[in-house]
Amino acid sequence: MAAAAAQKVQEVRDITRIERIGAHSHIRGLGLDDSLEARQVSQGMVGQVAARRAAGVILEMIKEGKIAGRAVLIAGQPGTGKTAIAMGMAQSLGPDTPFTAIAGSEIYSLEMGKTEALTQAFRRSIGVRIKEETEIIEGEVVEIQIDRPASGTGAKVGKLTLKTTEMETVYDLGTKMIESLTKEKVQAGDIITIDKATGKVSKLGRSFNRARDYDAMGPQTKFVQCPEGEIQKRKEVVHTVTLHEIDVINSRTQGFLALFSGDTGEIKGEVREQINAKVAEWREEGKADIVPGVLFIDEVHMLDIECFSFLNRALENDMAPVLIMATNRGITKIRGTNYKSPHGIPLDLLDRLLIISTSPYQEKDLRQILTIRCEEEDVEMSEDAIFLLTKIAQETSLRYSIQLITASSLVCRKRKGTEVNVDDIKRVYSLFLDEARSTQVLKEYQTEFMFHEDESTDPVSEAMETEAETA
Ligand SMILES: Nc1ncnc2c1ncn2[C@@H]1O[C@H](COP(=O)(O)OP(=O)(O)OP(=O)(O)O)[C@@H](O)[C@H]1O
Ligand SMILES: [Mg+2]
Repeated sequence: MAAAAAQKVQEVRDITRIERIGAHSHIRGLGLDDSLEARQVSQGMVGQVAARRAAGVILEMIKEGKIAGRAVLIAGQPGTGKTAIAMGMAQSLGPDTPFTAIAGSEIYSLEMGKTEALTQAFRRSIGVRIKEETEIIEGEVVEIQIDRPASGTGAKVGKLTLKTTEMETVYDLGTKMIESLTKEKVQAGDIITIDKATGKVSKLGRSFNRARDYDAMGPQTKFVQCPEGEIQKRKEVVHTVTLHEIDVINSRTQGFLALFSGDTGEIKGEVREQINAKVAEWREEGKADIVPGVLFIDEVHMLDIECFSFLNRALENDMAPVLIMATNRGITKIRGTNYKSPHGIPLDLLDRLLIISTSPYQEKDLRQILTIRCEEEDVEMSEDAIFLLTKIAQETSLRYSIQLITASSLVCRKRKGTEVNVDDIKRVYSLFLDEARSTQVLKEYQTEFMFHEDESTDPVSEAMETEAETA
């Protein structure tokens, strides 16, 4: 059951991978050296040295895999890199440690209760590393021969000849196998493995014997030795799946297809209990380990008092992940109560947190970040344009000036330029308002907008307000 589940999960993951340039796509890690000191600029990260170092210490604890149920809060002003640091941590964890990122507001949905949404997020962040022995066929492809049926309709058949340094065997191929081999573009000279249970074909590389064909291959070709010994062998493979993935596959109402759609709905308590028991059994038999991952809740002040109390409890479970939260709020009301508290988080939860704080950037850091963003977005920009953009970042905000990069490069392209210059920046600066100027405009022209706070000079909005009251 474990192996089959892992296989299905892998298929789903293979399908749902898309890469685009996003707000944090330039972040490739925390940029720390071996002694966890933050390098000024590294892996897309700039400055914010103390916070990055602190994040590195937490990361070290996570990688050891021993701690569970710790919680960290990253607190600081907007645009100081809190989310960026969390993304950096995710990047440094490697593919086998689950990392789940949600925003506090995501748990409010009509489809499931708040605590169900949080439970799912927790279980997405716990990995189960399953070890199993499988039979595989591994060797160098000597020849693939596919016979097309004369009629053009019948099933395809064929033969595959594989060899190791010691032996050579011919296998008959069915339609399904032919499809997988074609999909992987397997050809003579490739070293491949075939999982006997699932029929999954993986290409390991080209055989060294074929290294003289190098010119025709291109530089990305990987060369490997022709395998030794038997063609059929037993191999231990390790899959990591999350508890949530196991839950979904085993819940009768949703099943495997729900993993594709993401439409999982609520999962019954009994299902989870059964899975917990099963996983405990696997652990005892040495078939599986628990890999505590990371749950990142951004904008955590959006959670309410019930959620916070749920978190308190959930952190005490021995299968709890490491919880990282971020907020830009100061002392504010705890949602769902009339009490105020630092960051809008109740004191009993705050008491369990390690708090990392971020501070506003200096000019040098801003310029570096903007330069990195230009590279990420493939925008050429002149020195003085970057200088001006940095000035704008200081006066307005880092986010606003990051936005101007794409806009100014469009303006530059319109005038058929190749490098964004000061005039392009000036132009987009006048086209798009930042928050401060937008407020200014609203103050000046507020009578012309709906629902303004200025005293009743506008009959339309007044009428609307009274209507709202009576409704
Ligand atoms: N130290 C940094 N190095 C590189 N890029 C950074 C750094 N800090 C912030 N950025 C980039 O600046 C932008 C704003 O930062 P980010 O979104 O992390 O701010 P935040 O602290 O999460 O703000 P908020 O409180 O509004 O959520 C992002 O595109 C982010 O990737
Ligand atoms: Mg953020």
